[in-house]
Amino acid sequence: MERRNAVSSVRHWALVPAAGIGKRMGSAIPKQYLPLAGRPVIAHSLATLMDYPRIAGVVVAISAEDERWPMIATELTAAKPLRVVTGGAERCHSVLNGLEALHAWAAPSDWVLVHDAARPCLTAGDLDRLLVELANDPVGGLLAIPVRDTLKQADAAGRIMATVDRSHLWHALTPQMFRLGILHETLRAALARGLLVTDEAAAMEAAGYAPRLIEGRADNLKITRPEDLALAEFYLAHRAATG
Ligand code: CTP
Ligand code: MG
Repeated sequence: MERRNAVSSVRHWALVPAAGIGKRMGSAIPKQYLPLAGRPVIAHSLATLMDYPRIAGVVVAISAEDERWPMIATELTAAKPLRVVTGGAERCHSVLNGLEALHAWAAPSDWVLVHDAARPCLTAGDLDRLLVELANDPVGGLLAIPVRDTLKQADAAGRIMATVDRSHLWHALTPQMFRLGILHETLRAALARGLLVTDEAAAMEAAGYAPRLIEGRADNLKITRPEDLALAEFYLAHRAATG
């Protein structure tokens, strides 16, 4: 009973970086606003977090030039606090702005789950696994999947130099879940050193922490290139059909 109280008093917050332009997607509008199974990509990503009971509130980082956000905001259920901050030049700057805003609500020991707006296929089941597995973890961790393909290291001319042992290699996904205070500190320190980290785990690693890898679903893909949208559509349709 005592243990359960200790766990439940810690709150979980979501932070969604959504201030990118989606260069690799090559579309006229940023990829997080492209239609996917009847609504914009970001609406799927946010709905999973907004509907998840153990998330206390959500912070979204959007671009200063973003004109599409108001449309999304009106469609979301306002069951919990949803706050918007302005993003930055790189994903890590957007996340830092979000962490700063979170201090208004959250305690340094609260958990923050950073989740890409461009990952619309996140499931409540993967959130369950992340929260359960990391509940008593001193560092935190992230959803990830083991690398499946054979990996090649190339030279500058595009010829294979070596086959890389993949047995210990993982793809880092999101959410990535860390304590607000420590993540804020490590991300600030990384940026101060000029490290433009591409995920939260890298900021933690740079400070000497070893985040835990929690195996997640392979269909939690990030919309990056045009063909990813059709795949995400297929996954969502399949889930709708099978329940
Ligand atoms: N992101 C952000 N602020 C930035 C850059 C990215 O909040 N300055 C967000 C994106 O909106 C996305 C997530 O970080 O939800 C993952 O980044 P990525 O897939 O790289 O998106 P983009 O940077 O938009 O795409 P690209 O790299 O192809 O330009
Ligand atoms: Mg990017």
